Amino acid sequence: MQRGGDVFVAVPKGSSVKMRLELGGKNLPLFRLRPSPVAFYLPARMSSVHPGPVGSRTRLVAVYGQPIHHSASPAMQNAGIAALGLDWRYLACEVAPDDLRAAIAGAAAMHFVGLNLTVPHKLLAVDLVDVLDESARTWGAVNTIVFEAREADGEWRPLGQLERPTGPVRSKGYNTDADAIVRSLGEDLAIEPRGARVLLLGAGGAARAAALRLADEGVAELWLVNRTASKAEELAAEITERFPAVHAAAGYPDSSVEILLNATSAGLKPGDPLPLDIERFPLNGADGVYDMIYRPHETPLLAAARAAGCSVSNGLGMLLHQGAAALDLWSGRHAPRDVMRAALEQEVYG
Ligand SMILES: NC(=O)c1ccc[n+]([C@@H]2O[C@H](COP(=O)([O-])OP(=O)(O)OC[C@H]3O[C@@H](n4cnc5c(N)ncnc54)[C@H](OP(=O)(O)O)[C@@H]3O)[C@@H](O)[C@H]2O)c1
Repeated sequence: MQRGGDVFVAVPKGSSVKMRLELGGKNLPLFRLRPSPVAFYLPARMSSVHPGPVGSRTRLVAVYGQPIHHSASPAMQNAGIAALGLDWRYLACEVAPDDLRAAIAGAAAMHFVGLNLTVPHKLLAVDLVDVLDESARTWGAVNTIVFEAREADGEWRPLGQLERPTGPVRSKGYNTDADAIVRSLGEDLAIEPRGARVLLLGAGGAARAAALRLADEGVAELWLVNRTASKAEELAAEITERFPAVHAAAGYPDSSVEILLNATSAGLKPGDPLPLDIERFPLNGADGVYDMIYRPHETPLLAAARAAGCSVSNGLGMLLHQGAAALDLWSGRHAPRDVMRAALEQEVYG
């Protein structure tokens, strides 16, 4: 069935569909659909097609960051929202750190469904939300806010799952980044962190969340290398205190590792140096190399690792899984990962 520019495909339960769309002269990516409902909504232009026009019932979600113009989240989230048939829109808003408190309060007052937070807000928000979910408490950062309303029975429920909220509204902070890295390592590198030796580059916010999550997952050894060595030492000390079973240390390992994970910003810009000293740790000493950077598609680190025979992955899967988990929380439904990945790839790589 075709209506306007949107395509609806009926898929019998138990079957799967592979297709390439050619619409409006554009050759869109291959969709892999795993049916759970009997029909899927396929947006014809992944980043901008919705089930209907914006109206008085349309609900809003947004990502706050500074800068934000580069964000691929609106394309990914709007594709997921459309596929779920929700009358929601996902926006990107430039918010300065000093305005974050007011911007969160404003979204709550306007009954936004929720928010994503990116650089530089993830740590700041820990002290600004009304309640913290266990995930945000454990990993020490908030990248997703769910607005909840108190109902007549006294329970707090997500606004995105309520037709007409009447009670007071509160903000609840979650972290979906930490689980996303483990999920993406499994899917994109086929590596199971439990019992692994890991060399982690970086000691910023993303590195800290990854280090804590990998330690919690039961890695055997965690080696931490950072441009500012004192930060790697502090992070190693924190891991040792919280996860005594994990051997955590600052510096390069003297033997091979299963996972080399780049959580630095080195590689984002052309001409950036490699984030590690390959004299101290040759890349053929790693089975798999994961770079959290996803733009460019292949950083100099990934190119060198591929040439050295390592299996490699960029960070697109991490971005996908943190976003899909946020949409799960807002909607109470299972966000369509395949549709969201296709939209993300289209937006980031064209
Ligand atoms: N794929 C995803 O979904 C995802 C999610 C989050 C983050 N990321 C990526 O992860 C990276 C880190 O993000 P973040 O939020 O942790 O940032 P951050 O808190 O600002 O930390 C930046 C880290 O990079 C290091 N660094 C910066 N420039 C460097 C250079 N030229 N050489 C070596 N090290 C350098 C810093 O070292 P110093 O301590 O010495 O300054 C620090 O360890 C970014 O590239 C970001 O795009 C990806």
